[in-house]
Amino acid sequence: VAVGVDAGTQSLKVLAYAVDTNSVLARTSCPLSLLPSTVTGRAEQDPHSWVQALSHCLSELNLPSSAIVTAIAVSGQQHGLVALDSSGSVIRPAKLWCDVESAPEASEISTVLGYTLPAGFTCTKFLWLARHEPESFEKLHTLLLPHDYLNFVLSGVYAMECGDASGVGTMDLKNRVFDKTRCEKVHPKLFQSLPSLVPPDKPIGAVTAEAASTFNLPKDALVAPGGGDNMMSALGAGAVRPGVLVLSLGTSATLFGYSETPLEDASGTVAPFCDSTGAYLPLLCVQNCTSAVNEIAHGYGMSHDALMELAEKEPAGCEGLTYLPYLTGERTPNWPDASGALLGLRPGLFRPGLVYRAALEGATFSVLHGYKVMQSFGFEATELRVVGGGSKNTLWRRIIADAFQVQLKFPLEPESAALGAALQAAAIAEGQPVAEYVRSHEPPMSDVIVIPDASVAQQYASAFERFSSRGKTLFG
Ligand code: XUL
Repeated sequence: VAVGVDAGTQSLKVLAYAVDTNSVLARTSCPLSLLPSTVTGRAEQDPHSWVQALSHCLSELNLPSSAIVTAIAVSGQQHGLVALDSSGSVIRPAKLWCDVESAPEASEISTVLGYTLPAGFTCTKFLWLARHEPESFEKLHTLLLPHDYLNFVLSGVYAMECGDASGVGTMDLKNRVFDKTRCEKVHPKLFQSLPSLVPPDKPIGAVTAEAASTFNLPKDALVAPGGGDNMMSALGAGAVRPGVLVLSLGTSATLFGYSETPLEDASGTVAPFCDSTGAYLPLLCVQNCTSAVNEIAHGYGMSHDALMELAEKEPAGCEGLTYLPYLTGERTPNWPDASGALLGLRPGLFRPGLVYRAALEGATFSVLHGYKVMQSFGFEATELRVVGGGSKNTLWRRIIADAFQVQLKFPLEPESAALGAALQAAAIAEGQPVAEYVRSHEPPMSDVIVIPDASVAQQYASAFERFSSRGKTLFG
Protein backbone atom coordinates (compact mmCIF):
# COMPACT_ATOMS: atom_id res chain seq x y z
CA VAL A 1 0.00 0.00 0.00
CA ALA A 2 1.23 3.48 -0.86
CA VAL A 3 0.02 6.36 1.32
CA GLY A 4 -0.65 9.81 -0.13
CA VAL A 5 -1.05 12.81 2.18
CA ASP A 6 -2.30 16.24 1.19
CA ALA A 7 -1.60 18.90 3.80
CA GLY A 8 -3.84 21.71 2.53
CA THR A 9 -4.69 25.01 4.18
CA GLN A 10 -8.16 23.95 5.29
CA SER A 11 -7.64 20.26 5.94
CA LEU A 12 -5.19 17.40 5.85
CA LYS A 13 -6.23 14.36 3.83
CA VAL A 14 -4.79 10.86 3.76
CA LEU A 15 -5.48 8.29 1.11
CA ALA A 16 -4.29 4.66 1.03
CA TYR A 17 -3.72 3.33 -2.47
CA ALA A 18 -3.47 -0.37 -3.26
CA VAL A 19 -0.60 -0.67 -5.73
CA ASP A 20 -1.65 -4.12 -7.01
CA THR A 21 -5.28 -3.21 -7.78
CA ASN A 22 -4.67 0.47 -8.63
CA SER A 23 -7.48 1.55 -6.31
CA VAL A 24 -8.12 3.64 -3.21
CA LEU A 25 -8.49 1.39 -0.15
CA ALA A 26 -9.21 3.91 2.59
CA ARG A 27 -9.19 7.64 3.27
CA THR A 28 -9.37 10.03 6.23
CA SER A 29 -9.24 13.77 6.71
CA CYS A 30 -8.90 16.26 9.50
CA PRO A 31 -9.72 20.03 9.48
CA LEU A 32 -7.01 22.66 9.91
CA SER A 33 -7.44 26.32 10.72
CA LEU A 34 -5.48 29.53 10.54
CA LEU A 35 -4.13 31.01 13.77
CA PRO A 36 -6.34 33.85 14.95
CA SER A 37 -4.86 37.23 14.06
CA THR A 38 -5.91 40.86 14.04
CA VAL A 39 -3.14 41.85 11.63
CA THR A 40 -4.45 42.59 8.12
CA GLY A 41 -3.01 40.27 5.49
CA ARG A 42 -1.56 37.76 7.95
CA ALA A 43 -2.27 34.06 7.38
CA GLU A 44 -0.32 31.67 9.59
CA GLN A 45 -0.52 28.12 10.89
CA ASP A 46 1.39 26.21 13.51
CA PRO A 47 3.41 23.46 11.76
CA HIS A 48 2.83 21.24 14.82
CA SER A 49 -0.89 21.27 13.95
CA TRP A 50 -0.02 19.56 10.63
CA VAL A 51 1.93 16.89 12.53
CA GLN A 52 -0.99 16.31 14.90
CA ALA A 53 -3.44 16.14 11.98
CA LEU A 54 -1.22 13.64 10.15
CA SER A 55 -0.91 11.46 13.22
CA HIS A 56 -4.67 11.63 13.79
CA CYS A 57 -5.52 10.79 10.16
CA LEU A 58 -3.07 7.88 10.01
CA SER A 59 -4.40 6.43 13.27
CA GLU A 60 -7.97 6.56 11.88
CA LEU A 61 -7.04 5.02 8.53
CA ASN A 62 -8.87 1.75 8.42
CA LEU A 63 -6.54 -0.59 6.55
CA PRO A 64 -7.05 -4.37 6.24
CA SER A 65 -4.62 -6.23 8.53
CA SER A 66 -2.86 -7.73 5.49
CA ALA A 67 -2.02 -4.27 4.09
CA ILE A 68 1.60 -3.16 4.46
CA VAL A 69 2.57 0.46 3.88
CA THR A 70 5.67 0.42 1.68
CA ALA A 71 5.94 4.13 0.90
CA ILE A 72 4.44 7.49 1.81
CA ALA A 73 4.45 10.82 -0.06
CA VAL A 74 3.31 14.21 1.20
CA SER A 75 1.69 16.93 -0.90
CA GLY A 76 1.39 20.34 0.71
CA GLN A 77 0.15 23.87 0.29
CA GLN A 78 2.91 25.66 -1.62
CA HIS A 79 5.12 28.57 -0.56
CA GLY A 80 4.63 28.51 3.26
CA LEU A 81 7.72 29.57 5.19
CA VAL A 82 8.63 27.09 7.92
CA ALA A 83 11.55 28.51 9.93
CA LEU A 84 13.66 26.00 11.87
CA ASP A 85 16.53 26.60 14.30
CA SER A 86 19.76 24.62 14.28
CA SER A 87 18.18 21.80 16.30
CA GLY A 88 15.26 21.44 13.85
CA SER A 89 12.70 23.10 16.13
CA VAL A 90 10.04 25.42 14.70
CA ILE A 91 10.91 29.04 15.57
CA ARG A 92 7.59 30.75 14.81
CA PRO A 93 4.30 29.93 13.02
CA ALA A 94 4.51 29.25 9.27
CA LYS A 95 3.61 32.20 7.05
CA LEU A 96 1.36 30.72 4.37
CA TRP A 97 0.95 31.18 0.59
CA CYS A 98 -2.10 33.40 1.23
CA ASP A 99 -0.28 35.66 3.72
CA VAL A 100 0.26 39.03 2.03
CA GLU A 101 2.11 40.90 4.77
CA SER A 102 5.22 40.65 2.61
CA ALA A 103 3.65 42.62 -0.29
CA PRO A 104 6.14 45.54 0.10
CA GLU A 105 9.07 43.08 0.10
CA ALA A 106 7.54 41.34 -2.95
CA SER A 107 7.50 44.51 -5.00
CA GLU A 108 11.07 45.38 -3.97
CA ILE A 109 12.31 41.88 -4.83
CA SER A 110 10.46 41.97 -8.17
CA THR A 111 12.35 45.14 -9.08
CA VAL A 112 15.70 43.67 -8.04
CA LEU A 113 15.19 40.32 -9.80
CA GLY A 114 13.52 41.73 -12.93
CA TYR A 115 10.43 39.51 -12.83
CA THR A 116 7.21 39.84 -10.86
CA LEU A 117 6.84 37.77 -7.69
CA PRO A 118 3.57 38.02 -5.75
CA ALA A 119 3.65 38.17 -1.95
CA GLY A 120 2.81 34.47 -1.83
CA PHE A 121 6.30 33.43 -2.88
CA THR A 122 8.52 32.24 -0.03
CA CYS A 123 11.55 34.47 -0.59
CA THR A 124 9.37 37.54 0.06
CA LYS A 125 8.41 36.07 3.45
CA PHE A 126 12.08 35.38 4.21
CA LEU A 127 12.94 39.06 3.72
CA TRP A 128 9.86 40.05 5.71
CA LEU A 129 11.08 37.94 8.64
CA ALA A 130 14.58 39.43 8.45
CA ARG A 131 13.09 42.92 8.67
CA HIS A 132 10.21 42.46 11.08
CA GLU A 133 11.38 39.80 13.48
CA PRO A 134 15.18 40.02 13.69
CA GLU A 135 15.28 37.84 16.81
CA SER A 136 13.51 34.93 15.10
CA PHE A 137 15.52 35.52 11.95
CA GLU A 138 18.78 35.34 13.90
CA LYS A 139 17.82 31.82 15.06
CA LEU A 140 16.75 30.66 11.58
CA HIS A 141 19.00 27.88 10.34
CA THR A 142 16.86 26.06 7.78
CA LEU A 143 13.94 27.16 5.63
CA LEU A 144 11.49 24.43 4.68
CA LEU A 145 8.18 24.44 2.81
CA PRO A 146 5.14 22.86 4.50
CA HIS A 147 5.44 19.45 2.86
CA ASP A 148 9.22 19.43 3.43
CA TYR A 149 8.58 19.93 7.12
CA LEU A 150 6.34 16.84 7.28
CA ASN A 151 8.98 14.94 5.29
CA PHE A 152 11.54 16.02 7.90
CA VAL A 153 9.33 14.84 10.75
CA LEU A 154 8.84 11.48 8.98
CA SER A 155 12.42 10.87 7.86
CA GLY A 156 14.74 13.23 9.73
CA VAL A 157 15.98 14.55 6.34
CA TYR A 158 16.07 18.19 5.25
CA ALA A 159 15.32 18.31 1.53
CA MET A 160 13.29 20.10 -1.13
CA GLU A 161 12.16 18.82 -4.50
CA CYS A 162 12.19 21.14 -7.50
CA GLY A 163 8.41 21.52 -7.95
CA ASP A 164 7.64 23.08 -4.58
CA ALA A 165 11.12 24.65 -4.41
CA SER A 166 10.37 26.70 -7.52
CA GLY A 167 7.75 28.49 -5.40
CA VAL A 168 10.56 30.03 -3.32
CA GLY A 169 11.08 32.32 -6.32
CA THR A 170 14.85 32.15 -6.83
CA MET A 171 15.46 28.99 -8.86
CA ASP A 172 17.38 28.61 -12.09
CA LEU A 173 14.64 26.60 -13.79
CA LYS A 174 16.60 25.24 -16.72
CA ASN A 175 19.30 23.76 -14.48
CA ARG A 176 16.91 22.95 -11.65
CA VAL A 177 19.11 24.47 -8.93
CA PHE A 178 18.77 27.46 -6.61
CA ASP A 179 20.37 30.46 -8.27
CA LYS A 180 22.94 31.73 -5.76
CA THR A 181 23.07 35.22 -7.25
CA ARG A 182 19.28 35.63 -7.15
CA CYS A 183 19.17 34.30 -3.57
CA GLU A 184 21.85 36.80 -2.54
CA LYS A 185 19.94 39.63 -4.14
CA VAL A 186 16.99 38.76 -1.87
CA HIS A 187 19.05 38.33 1.30
CA PRO A 188 22.65 37.22 2.00
CA LYS A 189 21.40 34.43 4.30
CA LEU A 190 18.82 32.89 1.95
CA PHE A 191 21.03 30.53 -0.06
CA GLN A 192 22.66 28.92 2.98
CA SER A 193 19.26 28.41 4.68
CA LEU A 194 17.88 26.31 1.83
CA PRO A 195 18.28 22.53 2.01
CA SER A 196 19.55 20.34 -0.86
CA LEU A 197 17.33 19.74 -3.86
CA VAL A 198 16.48 16.10 -4.48
CA PRO A 199 15.48 14.33 -7.73
CA PRO A 200 11.81 13.41 -8.30
CA ASP A 201 12.20 9.66 -8.75
CA LYS A 202 14.12 8.61 -5.64
CA PRO A 203 13.07 8.36 -1.98
CA ILE A 204 14.44 11.10 0.27
CA GLY A 205 14.79 8.61 3.11
CA ALA A 206 12.78 6.23 5.25
CA VAL A 207 10.41 6.47 8.21
CA THR A 208 12.49 6.80 11.40
CA ALA A 209 11.84 4.70 14.51
CA GLU A 210 10.41 7.75 16.29
CA ALA A 211 8.10 8.62 13.39
CA ALA A 212 7.04 4.98 13.09
CA SER A 213 5.61 5.09 16.60
CA THR A 214 4.13 8.60 16.30
CA PHE A 215 2.39 7.88 13.02
CA ASN A 216 1.56 4.20 13.24
CA LEU A 217 3.71 3.49 10.17
CA PRO A 218 6.21 0.70 9.55
CA LYS A 219 9.77 1.80 10.34
CA ASP A 220 11.81 1.99 7.12
CA ALA A 221 8.79 2.55 4.83
CA LEU A 222 10.12 4.77 2.04
CA VAL A 223 9.52 8.51 2.22
CA ALA A 224 9.04 9.82 -1.34
CA PRO A 225 9.91 13.46 -2.16
CA GLY A 226 6.23 14.52 -2.31
CA GLY A 227 5.68 18.01 -3.68
CA GLY A 228 3.56 21.15 -3.80
CA ASP A 229 -0.18 20.47 -3.92
CA ASN A 230 -0.44 21.70 -7.51
CA MET A 231 2.41 19.43 -8.63
CA MET A 232 0.82 16.46 -6.87
CA SER A 233 -2.61 17.35 -8.23
CA ALA A 234 -1.08 17.32 -11.73
CA LEU A 235 -0.08 13.68 -11.12
CA GLY A 236 -3.46 12.78 -9.62
CA ALA A 237 -5.32 14.32 -12.58
CA GLY A 238 -2.95 12.72 -15.09
CA ALA A 239 -1.35 15.96 -16.36
CA VAL A 240 1.87 14.26 -17.41
CA ARG A 241 1.55 14.81 -21.16
CA PRO A 242 1.85 17.99 -23.23
CA GLY A 243 -1.54 19.59 -23.87
CA VAL A 244 -3.27 18.37 -20.69
CA LEU A 245 -4.32 21.34 -18.59
CA VAL A 246 -5.90 21.08 -15.13
CA LEU A 247 -8.30 23.67 -13.72
CA SER A 248 -9.00 23.50 -10.01
CA LEU A 249 -12.06 25.48 -8.95
CA GLY A 250 -11.90 26.03 -5.19
CA THR A 251 -12.16 29.07 -2.93
CA SER A 252 -9.17 30.17 -5.01
CA ALA A 253 -8.43 28.62 -8.40
CA THR A 254 -5.39 27.23 -10.15
CA LEU A 255 -4.80 26.42 -13.80
CA PHE A 256 -1.71 24.41 -14.68
CA GLY A 257 -0.35 22.07 -17.30
CA TYR A 258 2.56 19.82 -18.14
CA SER A 259 5.28 21.38 -20.26
CA GLU A 260 8.61 20.00 -21.41
CA THR A 261 10.23 23.43 -21.36
CA PRO A 262 10.09 26.15 -18.69
CA LEU A 263 7.66 28.98 -19.31
CA GLU A 264 9.29 32.10 -17.90
CA ASP A 265 6.68 34.85 -17.88
CA ALA A 266 8.34 37.97 -16.45
CA SER A 267 4.90 39.58 -15.92
CA GLY A 268 4.25 37.04 -13.16
CA THR A 269 0.80 36.06 -14.49
CA VAL A 270 1.93 32.49 -15.06
CA ALA A 271 4.24 31.14 -12.36
CA PRO A 272 7.21 29.31 -13.85
CA PHE A 273 7.13 26.18 -11.73
CA CYS A 274 8.96 22.89 -12.17
CA ASP A 275 6.69 19.86 -11.93
CA SER A 276 7.39 16.78 -9.83
CA THR A 277 8.51 14.51 -12.67
CA GLY A 278 11.50 16.42 -14.05
CA ALA A 279 9.44 18.62 -16.43
CA TYR A 280 7.65 21.95 -15.87
CA LEU A 281 4.26 23.11 -14.61
CA PRO A 282 3.33 26.62 -15.75
CA LEU A 283 0.62 27.74 -13.32
CA LEU A 284 -1.87 30.51 -12.76
CA CYS A 285 -3.26 31.04 -9.27
CA VAL A 286 -6.15 33.44 -8.64
CA GLN A 287 -7.38 34.27 -5.19
CA ASN A 288 -11.12 34.63 -5.87
CA CYS A 289 -13.07 31.80 -7.45
CA THR A 290 -15.95 29.82 -5.92
CA SER A 291 -15.94 32.29 -3.03
CA ALA A 292 -16.90 35.11 -5.43
CA VAL A 293 -19.72 33.03 -6.97
CA ASN A 294 -21.02 31.94 -3.56
CA GLU A 295 -21.37 35.58 -2.50
CA ILE A 296 -24.00 36.09 -5.21
CA ALA A 297 -26.02 33.10 -4.01
CA HIS A 298 -25.80 34.40 -0.42
CA GLY A 299 -26.67 37.91 -1.52
CA TYR A 300 -29.82 36.82 -3.32
CA GLY A 301 -30.63 34.22 -0.64
CA MET A 302 -31.10 31.57 -3.33
CA SER A 303 -29.61 28.14 -3.92
CA HIS A 304 -27.07 27.51 -6.65
CA ASP A 305 -29.52 25.12 -8.32
CA ALA A 306 -32.30 27.72 -8.47
CA LEU A 307 -29.90 30.38 -9.76
CA MET A 308 -28.44 28.00 -12.31
CA GLU A 309 -31.88 27.26 -13.71
CA LEU A 310 -32.47 30.99 -14.24
CA ALA A 311 -28.93 31.63 -15.50
CA GLU A 312 -29.21 28.94 -18.16
CA LYS A 313 -31.85 31.07 -19.88
CA GLU A 314 -29.58 34.13 -19.96
CA PRO A 315 -27.29 34.83 -22.92
CA ALA A 316 -23.51 34.28 -23.11
CA GLY A 317 -21.84 37.65 -22.43
CA CYS A 318 -24.67 38.66 -20.06
CA GLU A 319 -25.87 41.62 -22.16
CA GLY A 320 -22.68 43.52 -21.32
CA LEU A 321 -22.76 42.87 -17.56
CA THR A 322 -19.29 42.20 -16.13
CA TYR A 323 -18.51 40.83 -12.68
CA LEU A 324 -14.94 41.42 -11.52
CA PRO A 325 -14.55 38.76 -8.82
CA TYR A 326 -11.67 40.38 -6.86
CA LEU A 327 -13.53 40.47 -3.54
CA THR A 328 -10.46 39.84 -1.38
CA GLY A 329 -7.98 41.72 -3.58
CA GLU A 330 -6.21 39.73 -6.27
CA ARG A 331 -2.89 38.00 -6.69
CA THR A 332 -3.14 37.56 -10.49
CA PRO A 333 -3.27 40.22 -11.83
CA ASN A 334 -1.14 41.57 -9.00
CA TRP A 335 -3.85 43.89 -7.59
CA PRO A 336 -3.79 43.27 -3.82
CA ASP A 337 -6.00 46.30 -3.17
CA ALA A 338 -8.65 45.51 -5.82
CA SER A 339 -12.25 44.79 -4.81
CA GLY A 340 -15.19 43.14 -6.52
CA ALA A 341 -17.27 45.10 -9.03
CA LEU A 342 -20.41 44.72 -11.10
CA LEU A 343 -20.16 46.85 -14.22
CA GLY A 344 -22.35 47.58 -17.22
CA LEU A 345 -25.62 47.71 -15.28
CA ARG A 346 -28.68 48.96 -17.18
CA PRO A 347 -32.33 48.97 -16.15
CA GLY A 348 -33.58 45.42 -15.78
CA LEU A 349 -30.13 43.78 -15.56
CA PHE A 350 -30.29 43.03 -11.83
CA ARG A 351 -32.03 39.75 -12.69
CA PRO A 352 -30.65 37.14 -10.27
CA GLY A 353 -29.98 34.62 -13.07
CA LEU A 354 -28.08 37.23 -15.10
CA VAL A 355 -25.96 38.38 -12.16
CA TYR A 356 -25.23 34.75 -11.24
CA ARG A 357 -24.22 34.01 -14.82
CA ALA A 358 -22.00 37.12 -14.80
CA ALA A 359 -20.30 35.75 -11.66
CA LEU A 360 -19.63 32.39 -13.34
CA GLU A 361 -18.33 34.17 -16.44
CA GLY A 362 -16.16 36.54 -14.35
CA ALA A 363 -14.62 33.68 -12.38
CA THR A 364 -14.00 31.87 -15.70
CA PHE A 365 -12.42 34.90 -17.38
CA SER A 366 -10.04 35.42 -14.48
CA VAL A 367 -8.51 31.98 -15.21
CA LEU A 368 -8.87 32.29 -18.98
CA HIS A 369 -6.50 35.24 -18.64
CA GLY A 370 -3.78 32.77 -17.58
CA TYR A 371 -4.51 30.44 -20.49
CA LYS A 372 -4.17 33.35 -22.96
CA VAL A 373 -0.72 34.08 -21.50
CA MET A 374 0.23 30.38 -21.74
CA GLN A 375 -0.93 30.38 -25.38
CA SER A 376 1.24 33.42 -26.09
CA PHE A 377 4.20 31.20 -25.05
CA GLY A 378 3.06 28.46 -27.42
CA PHE A 379 1.21 26.30 -24.87
CA GLU A 380 -1.98 24.89 -26.45
CA ALA A 381 -4.41 22.75 -24.44
CA THR A 382 -5.98 19.71 -26.05
CA GLU A 383 -8.14 19.08 -23.00
CA LEU A 384 -8.97 20.71 -19.71
CA ARG A 385 -9.41 18.43 -16.69
CA VAL A 386 -11.60 20.20 -14.16
CA VAL A 387 -11.44 19.41 -10.43
CA GLY A 388 -12.55 21.08 -7.18
CA GLY A 389 -15.92 22.07 -5.73
CA GLY A 390 -16.93 24.32 -8.66
CA SER A 391 -16.52 21.49 -11.20
CA LYS A 392 -19.91 20.05 -10.16
CA ASN A 393 -21.79 23.10 -11.49
CA THR A 394 -23.10 22.05 -14.92
CA LEU A 395 -23.67 25.57 -16.23
CA TRP A 396 -20.17 26.58 -15.17
CA ARG A 397 -18.82 23.55 -17.06
CA ARG A 398 -20.54 24.76 -20.25
CA ILE A 399 -19.28 28.34 -19.80
CA ILE A 400 -15.69 27.14 -19.28
CA ALA A 401 -15.72 24.86 -22.36
CA ASP A 402 -17.19 27.63 -24.53
CA ALA A 403 -14.96 30.44 -23.23
CA PHE A 404 -11.78 28.35 -23.48
CA GLN A 405 -12.93 26.53 -26.65
CA VAL A 406 -11.34 23.39 -25.21
CA GLN A 407 -13.08 20.11 -24.29
CA LEU A 408 -13.52 19.33 -20.59
CA LYS A 409 -12.97 16.08 -18.74
CA PHE A 410 -13.53 15.30 -15.07
CA PRO A 411 -11.22 13.13 -12.95
CA LEU A 412 -13.27 10.84 -10.70
CA GLU A 413 -11.04 11.20 -7.65
CA PRO A 414 -11.96 14.46 -5.89
CA GLU A 415 -8.69 14.57 -3.94
CA SER A 416 -6.34 14.79 -6.89
CA ALA A 417 -3.37 16.02 -4.82
CA ALA A 418 -3.61 13.17 -2.30
CA LEU A 419 -4.01 10.68 -5.16
CA GLY A 420 -1.02 12.22 -6.96
CA ALA A 421 1.07 11.84 -3.81
CA ALA A 422 -0.04 8.21 -3.49
CA LEU A 423 0.87 7.56 -7.14
CA GLN A 424 4.30 9.10 -6.59
CA ALA A 425 4.80 6.92 -3.48
CA ALA A 426 3.71 3.85 -5.47
CA ALA A 427 6.14 4.68 -8.29
CA ILE A 428 8.97 5.10 -5.78
CA ALA A 429 8.08 1.81 -4.07
CA GLU A 430 8.08 0.06 -7.46
CA GLY A 431 11.36 1.75 -8.48
CA GLN A 432 9.80 3.35 -11.57
CA PRO A 433 10.09 6.91 -12.92
CA VAL A 434 7.06 8.86 -11.67
CA ALA A 435 5.91 10.22 -15.07
CA GLU A 436 6.07 6.77 -16.65
CA TYR A 437 4.18 5.24 -13.73
CA VAL A 438 1.38 7.82 -13.91
CA ARG A 439 1.14 7.47 -17.72
CA SER A 440 0.61 3.73 -17.31
CA HIS A 441 -1.82 4.17 -14.37
CA GLU A 442 -4.00 6.88 -15.90
CA PRO A 443 -6.33 8.23 -13.16
CA PRO A 444 -9.95 7.31 -13.95
CA MET A 445 -12.14 9.95 -15.64
CA SER A 446 -15.90 10.40 -15.62
CA ASP A 447 -17.70 9.43 -18.85
CA VAL A 448 -18.94 13.01 -19.16
CA ILE A 449 -17.04 15.10 -21.72
CA VAL A 450 -18.13 18.68 -22.40
CA ILE A 451 -17.45 19.70 -26.02
CA PRO A 452 -17.09 23.43 -26.77
CA ASP A 453 -19.73 25.13 -28.89
CA ALA A 454 -17.93 27.13 -31.58
CA SER A 455 -21.01 29.22 -32.36
CA VAL A 456 -20.70 31.21 -29.09
CA ALA A 457 -16.89 31.60 -29.20
CA GLN A 458 -17.10 35.18 -30.49
CA GLN A 459 -19.58 36.25 -27.80
CA TYR A 460 -17.24 34.98 -25.08
CA ALA A 461 -14.21 36.53 -26.77
CA SER A 462 -15.89 39.97 -26.69
CA ALA A 463 -17.08 39.50 -23.11
CA PHE A 464 -13.52 38.51 -22.11
CA GLU A 465 -12.10 41.64 -23.78
CA ARG A 466 -14.63 43.74 -21.88
CA PHE A 467 -13.74 41.96 -18.62
CA SER A 468 -10.01 42.61 -19.14
CA SER A 469 -10.31 46.25 -20.11
CA ARG A 470 -12.77 47.05 -17.31
CA GLY A 471 -10.41 45.43 -14.78
CA LYS A 472 -7.42 47.39 -16.08
CA THR A 473 -9.36 50.65 -16.05
CA LEU A 474 -10.34 50.19 -12.43
CA PHE A 475 -7.26 48.58 -10.90
CA GLY A 476 -4.45 48.40 -13.46
C1 XUL B 1 0.12 28.24 -5.91
C2 XUL B 1 -0.50 28.60 -4.61
C3 XUL B 1 -1.68 27.83 -4.13
C4 XUL B 1 -1.31 26.94 -2.95
C5 XUL B 1 -2.58 26.38 -2.34
O1 XUL B 1 1.12 29.10 -6.31
O2 XUL B 1 -0.09 29.49 -3.94
O3 XUL B 1 -2.28 27.09 -5.14
O4 XUL B 1 -0.44 25.94 -3.36
O5 XUL B 1 -2.32 25.42 -1.40
